[in-house]
Amino acid sequence: MKMFIRNSFIKDIAEIIEIGSETNLSIWTADDYKSEFVRPAAVCFTIIDENDTIAGFMHGRFNISAVSEKNIFELHNIAVGKQFWNKGFGSALFAKLITECLEREAAEIILNVRISNHPAIAFYTKYGFEIVSTEKLLYSNPAEDGFLMVLSL
Ligand SMILES: CC(C)(COP(=O)(O)OP(=O)(O)OC[C@H]1O[C@@H](n2cnc3c(N)ncnc32)[C@H](O)[C@@H]1OP(=O)(O)O)[C@@H](O)C(=O)NCCC(=O)NCCS
Repeated sequence: MKMFIRNSFIKDIAEIIEIGSETNLSIWTADDYKSEFVRPAAVCFTIIDENDTIAGFMHGRFNISAVSEKNIFELHNIAVGKQFWNKGFGSALFAKLITECLEREAAEIILNVRISNHPAIAFYTKYGFEIVSTEKLLYSNPAEDGFLMVLSL
C-alpha cells in the first residue's frame, strides 16, 4: 500500500483528534496540538495514504534526561485509524521516527502504555522495546497501571 509521511499541519488537527478518539488515546485538544507543532523539541508526523487520506499520526519530544544527561525521545502518541490497522502504517511511522532519532543522536526512545493495550505492546516489542517498570494507576478513565517501555538506540 502506498503511503507518505510528512510533518503534521494545523489542517490535520481535526482528523488527528478523531483518530485519537476512536483509538482511545489520552485527550489532546486542538490548542495542545497547535503549540506542540511549533515546539522545537517536538516531532509530529502525519501519515497519508494514496488518496491523501490521513491514516495516522505520531508525536513526541526530545528531552535531555536530568539523571543520565542522555538525549531521550519521549513518544507521547502513535495511532492509526482502525480502518488502516495491520497494513504497515504504524511501522512506517515508527521507521521515520527512528531515522529522526538517529539523526538527532537520541540514546533512547521511551513511552508509557496501558498494561491492557496488547496490540500496542506487541507493536513496540516487535521493534525492540522492553518493559522496564510498571507505574501504578498511571491512567484514568478507566483507571489502569501503565508500563514504561524503553528502546535503546
Ligand atoms: C499500535 C498501532 C499504532 C499499530 O499500527 P498498525 O499500522 O496496525 O501496525 P502495523 O501494521 O505496522 O503492524 C506492525 C506490527 O505490530 C504488531 N501488531 C499490530 N497490531 C496488532 C494486533 N492487533 N495484535 C497484535 N500485534 C499487533 C504486529 O507485530 C505487527 O507485525 P506483523 O504484521 O508482522 O504481525 C495501532 O494498533 C493503533 O493505532 N492502536 C491504537 C492506538 C494505540 O494504542 N497507540 C499506542 C498508545 S501507547
